[in-house]
Amino acid sequence: MDIKKLVSEMTLEEKAGMCSGKDYWHLKGVERLGIPEVMVSDGPHGLRKQDEEGDHLGVNDSIKAVCFPAGCATTSSFDRELIRKMGEIIGDECQAEDVSVVLGPAVNIKRSPLCGRNFEYMSEDPYLAGEMASSYIKGVQSKNVGVSIKHFAANNQEHERMSCSSEVDERTLREIYLLPFEKAVKEADPYTVMCSYNKINGTFSSENEWLLTKVLRDEWGFKGYVMSDWGAVNDRVRGVIAGLDLEMPVTGSDNDKLIVDAVKKGILSEKKLDETVERILNTVFKYFENKKGGIFDREKDHEKAADIASECMVLLKNEEDILPVSADEKLAFIGGFAKKPRFQGGGSSHINCFKISDTLSESLKRADITYAEGFACDSDEEDEQKIKEALSAAKAADKVVIFAGLPDSYESEGYDRKHMGLPECQNRLISRIAGINPNVIVVLHNGSPVEMPWINEVKGVIEAYLSGEAVGIALSRVLFGEVNPSGHLAETFPLKLSDTPCYLNFPGKRGKVYYREGVFTGYRYYDSKDMKVLFPFGHGLSYTSFKIDNLKINRRGNKVTDDIEVSVDVTNIGDRKGKEVIQLYVSDRTGTEVRPLKELKGFEKVELLPGESKTVTMKLDQRSFAYYSTEISDWYAPGGEYDILVGNSCENISVRERIILEAERELPFKAEVTTTIGELKAYPQLGEFMEKVIRPAMSGDEETEKNENSSSKEAITDEMSEAMDNYMPLRAIRSFGGITNEQLYDMVYEINKILNK
Ligand code: BGC
Repeated sequence: MDIKKLVSEMTLEEKAGMCSGKDYWHLKGVERLGIPEVMVSDGPHGLRKQDEEGDHLGVNDSIKAVCFPAGCATTSSFDRELIRKMGEIIGDECQAEDVSVVLGPAVNIKRSPLCGRNFEYMSEDPYLAGEMASSYIKGVQSKNVGVSIKHFAANNQEHERMSCSSEVDERTLREIYLLPFEKAVKEADPYTVMCSYNKINGTFSSENEWLLTKVLRDEWGFKGYVMSDWGAVNDRVRGVIAGLDLEMPVTGSDNDKLIVDAVKKGILSEKKLDETVERILNTVFKYFENKKGGIFDREKDHEKAADIASECMVLLKNEEDILPVSADEKLAFIGGFAKKPRFQGGGSSHINCFKISDTLSESLKRADITYAEGFACDSDEEDEQKIKEALSAAKAADKVVIFAGLPDSYESEGYDRKHMGLPECQNRLISRIAGINPNVIVVLHNGSPVEMPWINEVKGVIEAYLSGEAVGIALSRVLFGEVNPSGHLAETFPLKLSDTPCYLNFPGKRGKVYYREGVFTGYRYYDSKDMKVLFPFGHGLSYTSFKIDNLKINRRGNKVTDDIEVSVDVTNIGDRKGKEVIQLYVSDRTGTEVRPLKELKGFEKVELLPGESKTVTMKLDQRSFAYYSTEISDWYAPGGEYDILVGNSCENISVRERIILEAERELPFKAEVTTTIGELKAYPQLGEFMEKVIRPAMSGDEETEKNENSSSKEAITDEMSEAMDNYMPLRAIRSFGGITNEQLYDMVYEINKILNK
C-alpha cells in the first residue's frame, strides 16, 4: 500500500478523524479509500477483548480468554525465550480474534512497592525490564500483530495518575525510567507506544514534544505511532504538534474539529498532520495486509499458561529442604487461596478467564491432603471456627502449606497500596500454626512485595506472584518437585516500607511527586547504602545447588569502546536437574560521578543436569559502563577501574575481577577563575605548570610563610592544608598569594592553552 498516496487522497476532515478512536477499542476506517477499522485490546498478559459495551476498567465482560502470568511473575523467570513464546501465543490469539495491537507490555519501573499496578510492571531494574519487554514484543510482533509499550513515561504510581507531575531530573529519567522504552524501541521496534496520563516536569506526556519527538523519534528512531492512554489527552492540538498521533478512546468529534481548525488557522501545519496520519496508517496496514486469522485454542493455551507459570515461581526460603513435599507425607493445606487462588490484578488488564486451575484440586491428584480455610482470601476478618479447624489440621500434619496473599482490594489499577502488609489475620494465623507445627511452608499470591513478620518461624516460602489462571497446575508441580523452581526476584523485598528509597517522597503532594532518590531505585539504593533487606534483587533458590566459578574476561583492547565478553562456568552440584539465573553486574570504581554501587548489565538462564557444567557467556559494551551525563547530553563511560561481578543475586556475588578501561573521550573542561586547584589536579598535563607557576603563586611572600611555619604548624596540619588547597578557587590566589588580576587571567589563559593542546 502506498501510504503517502493514500494520505494525499484524504480530506482534511478524514485525516483529522484518523487521529482519534471510533469507539473504545477501534480506530476509524474510511470506506471510500479502503481504510479498514482495526481493533486494539488490552493486554498485557492475555487478551481482554471487549466486543460490545467497551470500558477501559474491565467492568464489562470481555470474551473468554486465557490469563497468563502477570509481569511481576514473568519477569521473575529471567527467561527471554519464555516471555518471547508467551508473546507468540498472545500474537496468535490476536490474529484469531482480529486484534491489530495488544496494549502492553507495561514497563514502568517499580519505584515504590506500593504502586497499585506493580503487578503488571516488570521490574525495579531498567535493564531487566527492557530485555524482557523486547523479547515479549518480538514474540507478539512475529505474528504480524503490534504491541503498545506503555505507559510512556514516569508513570510510577496510581495516586493522581491522570494529573500528577513526576518531577524527575534528566539523568534519572534516562538511566532509570526511560531505559526500558529505549531498549525496546531500539531492539524490538514496537508498532506503537502508549503515552502516560501524568505530567513530566510540568508537561503532560500527551503533549510533551521533548519526550514524544526529540527522544522517542529523533534519538531512538521510533517509526510507529504514539497513542494516548485512555483519556490522557489534555490539549489535542498541542498533542499533535508534540508527536501524539492517536487519541484513544473516542472523544466525539470535538477534538477532530480542533485539529481541522488548527490547520486552517495555520497553528498546525498540514504536513505535520499528514505525517501523523501516515504513521497511523503504516501500522494499520502492516497488520491488515498480513492478517491471517486462526483458531484461539483456549484449552491448549491454558496448558501453555501452566508451563510458563511453572518457570516463574520464586523459591525464597527452603530451610532443611522442607520442599518439595511428597505424597507419603501427611499434608495440610490452609488458606482460602488454595481453593480460590489470586492470580491476576484488577483493572484494565483483567481477563475474563476461560478456566481456572486451583492448587488444592491439582494437588489432590497427587496426594491426600487435609484442607482448612483458616482465613478468607478477600477480607481481614478472623473467624474463630475457621481458625480452630486450621489449627487442628496443622497439628495432625507432617507438613503444613499455608496459601497466603493479598486480597483483590489491596492492590489494583486506580489506587496505590496503603501499606506493605498482608492482612493481619493471615500473619497471626501463620505464626500460630508455626507455633504448633515446625514444618510450615508459606505460598504467596501477591503482585508486589509484602512484609513477612513470621519469616523466621517458617521453613519454606514460595513467591507465586500473580501467576495466571493455570497457577494451580504450576504450583502443584513446584510443591511436589515435578518442576524445580527457577524464578529469581525482579525486585527487592525490603524489610519494611520506611526502608524504601522513595519513602519520604511517595506519592507526593499538591500535584507533584519528586523523584528525589534519583538513580538510586530498588537495589541500587539498598546495596549502595549497605542496608539489610528481606530478600535481595535477583534472589531465588532451587531444589538443587549451583557453583559459579572460572570467571574469564575477554577483550580486544582497553578502551570502553572495545566490546567485552564475560564468561563463567556454572555447575549443578546437587542431585536434581535445575535452572540457574546467572547475573552480571558492573561496579564503577572510577569515582567520576555519583553512581550506584553496582548495576545489572547482563543475565542468562541455564539448565543443568546433576553434575553437569556449562560455560555461560555475556557481553558488555560501552553503554554497560556509561551513565547519562547532562554536561554533554549523552551517555558517558569514564576511564578508570571497574569491577565485573557475577553471581546469582545482587548480594550473592560468586566471582569478581577488576578491570581498567580507557575512556573514548574526556568530558569537556574549561578552566575559569572559579576553577579549584583540586579540579586541576585531575589533569596530569598540568603537572609542570602547577609546580612552576601555580604553587609558587599560592605560597605568597616569604614573610607569611615564615609566620605560618612558626606559629600555625600545629593548627594547620598537612592534611588540612592539602584540603584547603584543593578547595581553593584560582581567584583566591589573589587574596592569599598576592597575584594581580592580570596575572590571574594570564594563569587561566595558560591553563586552557595547555589543556587544549
Ligand atoms: C490503562 C491502560 C489501558 C487502557 C485501556 C487505561 O486506564 O492505564 O493501561 O491499556 O486503560 O484499557
